[in-house]
Amino acid sequence: MEANRQTDWVARSLRSVWHPCTQMQHHESTPLIPVSHGRGAWLYDHQGNRYLDAISSWWVNLFGHANPRINAALREQLDMLEHAMLAGFTHEPVIQLSERLSDLTSNTLGHAFYASDGASAVEIALKMSFHAWRNGGKADKQEFLCLKGSYHGETIGALAVTDVALFKDAYGPLLRAAQTVMSPDARQAEEGETAQDVARRAAADVERAFQQAEGRIAAIIIEPLVQCATGFAMHDPLYLQLVRALCDRYQVHMILDEIAVGCGRTGTFFACEQAGIWPDFLCLSKGISGGYLPLSIVLSREEIYQAFYSEDVTRGFLHSHSYTGNPLACRAALATLDIFAEDHVLEANRARAARITAALAPLAQHERTAHFRQRGMIWAFDAIDAAPGFSRRFFANATRQELLLRPIGSTVYLMPPYILNDEEIGILAQRTLAVFEQSLAG
Ligand SMILES: Cc1ncc(COP(=O)(O)O)c(C=O)c1O
Repeated sequence: MEANRQTDWVARSLRSVWHPCTQMQHHESTPLIPVSHGRGAWLYDHQGNRYLDAISSWWVNLFGHANPRINAALREQLDMLEHAMLAGFTHEPVIQLSERLSDLTSNTLGHAFYASDGASAVEIALKMSFHAWRNGGKADKQEFLCLKGSYHGETIGALAVTDVALFKDAYGPLLRAAQTVMSPDARQAEEGETAQDVARRAAADVERAFQQAEGRIAAIIIEPLVQCATGFAMHDPLYLQLVRALCDRYQVHMILDEIAVGCGRTGTFFACEQAGIWPDFLCLSKGISGGYLPLSIVLSREEIYQAFYSEDVTRGFLHSHSYTGNPLACRAALATLDIFAEDHVLEANRARAARITAALAPLAQHERTAHFRQRGMIWAFDAIDAAPGFSRRFFANATRQELLLRPIGSTVYLMPPYILNDEEIGILAQRTLAVFEQSLAG
């Protein structure tokens, strides 16, 4: 009976749901997993099989599925206000959230603009940057700079500053060209070079691009500390300091896309705190709602806000989404921030991360592992000489071992929620090792 329901859900889903980032034909050989419910770090299917959500469901979940505190906050909010449009109206959750995020940036980024998905936040930051320059009499600043291997989302504007051929090439004719500069990926260190040396080389490339563009660049967009979607390339915080200084010198906005790396993922609440700098625009999404509801935010500085403040309506930022500032999503975010404060999450994560790193030692030292790396609650390593199809094979083998893990190419990464106990850490480490060894050969 249960088994039937499981297969029914699969068949019905394949008939009617067009799944994201998927060649649907692959589901002829790779089974789809219908999730019945989630508890803590685990997802359960209709047959009672469980899967340790070691990638936090595309990096959104921070404090587990069906978190009692976020659930309670949402139930309370549901009885107050589910949604109200944010133009001409405002409400407590969106005000409180904006104030608290501003506080977290020492009030440097005191203006919060809301959307739903990460890509929308990127679109907003790009548009705001261009429009702020235009309002300031610099309408010829129209170009954007992004990093090699960057990923900022799939909408047309975000894709234009994304450097992933697989996602981008088909849409090339639709996209506005952006310039790509060297990634500060520390794996590129040459003999005798440190991660900081690579950061310096990459920053020099930014300066070259700024000089060549002769004032036409509006903004550079960067995923600070970790370029997640293209294989977890990590870099030294020095890079962000150097680029911040260049942006000031050459009058270019700095957009930091903290959609994946914000909310404590790299060890500090915002990744850029590790460089001791603030951008002009900071994009936040994914974990900010605890992984509950689509919510994205662009935080910006006073000077940016002032560039739009005018009697003239066309100098305003006339961008909107229907669900902008949705009260339920904001309330989930407030509950998430409460957990950070009440449970001293950043501190607790330092101890948890040390335990996870220790448990992963056999993988770090494995003869088929290269570039084992970690920052905060992110671990990644590259498989040496993995046979083609490694990523799909790994995913399938992992599900059989109760793990949800999806390598990117030959890079295996772990990005678990911030709640794993010692037993779960043991399961994660031992089974990831077993799945890794099983999946190397074709
Ligand atoms: C750094 C970064 N920017 C933007 C996005 C796009 O966010 P969304 O998928 O919510 O549109 C992602 C998604 O993975 C991301 O990792």
